[in-house]
Amino acid sequence: MTPAGIEPSRIPAHVACVMDGNGRWATRRGLRRTDGHAAGEDALFDTVEGALDLGLRWLTVYAFSTENWRRPIDEVRYLMGFNERILTDRRDELHERGVRITFAGRRDWRVPKRLVRRMDEALEMTAGNRRMTLCIAFNYGGRAEIVDAVRALVEKGVPADKIDEKAIRANLYQPEMPDPDLVVRTSGEFRISNFLLWELAYSELVFTDVLWPDFRREHLFDAVREYQRRTRRFGGVEELDD
Ligand code: IPE
Ligand code: IPE
Ligand code: MG
Repeated sequence: MTPAGIEPSRIPAHVACVMDGNGRWATRRGLRRTDGHAAGEDALFDTVEGALDLGLRWLTVYAFSTENWRRPIDEVRYLMGFNERILTDRRDELHERGVRITFAGRRDWRVPKRLVRRMDEALEMTAGNRRMTLCIAFNYGGRAEIVDAVRALVEKGVPADKIDEKAIRANLYQPEMPDPDLVVRTSGEFRISNFLLWELAYSELVFTDVLWPDFRREHLFDAVREYQRRTRRFGGVEELDD
């Protein structure tokens, strides 16, 4: 059943989350930043449940940006191991729920081989699932994604006059991903931080002060309620049904 106050006919197809505030959550408790990342696991899986409750088609989560390599080496190393463990420990559960796991981002030499293997295993295991796609943006940067799409077009020998929005779209990391209807960023930061630059041209943005480790499905529902109060115009003059 759709949560109270949410109109079932206007559920966003795709919600994208910037899971931010783990470090501050930990620091406020006198813990290590990495403890904050660990605490983010429950937030993520409760959000996935909420997304399934709502019947979202896509949920994209920003797990590691192309700029996050700037962090102290110990934190980066922790995050690599953490993501690897989550993929190993929780993929079966996601699979049972009918969730297809996929990834957006650069698979460059900096991403440990073991993690890449876990990513491939999760992809393969869940490839046939249709209930919802969970897209993990990992080593993801919106600018890098556009650069990679243009490079792919050039490599294919596409002439300049054939490079249009549709061609770029088709060469992004997830060509079949619908543009996010709603982007939620936690932790009170009002910025995009290089997330889905191409895709969120007309997304509704919702910001909350809740720190990611405290985020639960109810917060997702609140964001969807806020989304449903907005009027989307896409540059036109009346609300379009998309
Ligand atoms: C988000 O939390 C997680 C990642 C970027 C991997 P942060 O680690 O950015 O937490 P804050 O913003 O420092 O509180
Ligand atoms: C964005 O958060 C990246 C992820 C949540 C993975 P950051 O914490 O890296 O963003 P900035 O540095 O505050 O802009
Ligand atoms: Mg942050």
